[in-house]
Amino acid sequence: MSLSAVDLSAVPAHVACVMDGNGRWAERRGLPRTAGHEAGLDALLDAVDGALEIGVQWLTVYAFSTENWSRPREEVRFLLEFNRSNLATRRDELHERGVRLRFIGGRDRRLPRSLLAEMDAAAELTAENRRLTLTVAFNYGGRAELTEAVRRIVASGVQSTQVTEQTIRANLATPDMPDPDVLIRTSGEHRLSNFLLWQVAYSEMVFLDVLWPDFSRTHLFEAVVEYQRRERRFGGLDQ
Ligand code: FPP
Repeated sequence: MSLSAVDLSAVPAHVACVMDGNGRWAERRGLPRTAGHEAGLDALLDAVDGALEIGVQWLTVYAFSTENWSRPREEVRFLLEFNRSNLATRRDELHERGVRLRFIGGRDRRLPRSLLAEMDAAAELTAENRRLTLTVAFNYGGRAELTEAVRRIVASGVQSTQVTEQTIRANLATPDMPDPDVLIRTSGEHRLSNFLLWQVAYSEMVFLDVLWPDFSRTHLFEAVVEYQRRERRFGGLDQ
């Protein structure tokens, strides 16, 4: 799908992606799964450029789920180090493009301090950028995010009758982030897999048959065009 098919006056503010299929992409080529993650990063960077091109302001990607710890130790180790080193080497080019980098997910002991340090450095360097906010979900799970929100609300001592949807939203990892307008999942799987459970209540779901490493900005444009085609009712009548 080319850029010209996109209605630039109705671009979604927030696109979320479940970047699925890296392992299968590699296995089909007789390559180690890690090669799929490497190719997946190139796909992500092209998606970032595509988002910048059409003016998407928020892009949120699922880079490592709370369930991913159960993968083979070598793959987990690779993903931790891969993210650390790429944050170090890519943050300047993202900064130059006006991208603000943010991270959501548990900062627990399983994350090496060196990775946390790179995340903080990238977030700090790019904190003032507003062209596009790229939120990387790492050691993230929607249920864990909601559990954490409930803990904070209870700890604040608020009366149960005073708890509203706004209270919950305000205690999510990124209360200032608009909900995704579109959620894309690649690789033909039709699941949420614990991604942004609260935030995707009204998101348009776009499932693409492409494996994530084969994803590029043209697929992003395809998903945006699909979003623009659908009637969005938010449970009510036409707006
Ligand atoms: C899912 O494919 C992909 C992942 C678990 C990792 C995604 C990570 C990246 C694309 C790199 C991101 C890097 C930075 C610096 C943000 P899978 O392994 O589940 O594939 P499969 O379903 O075919 O096994």
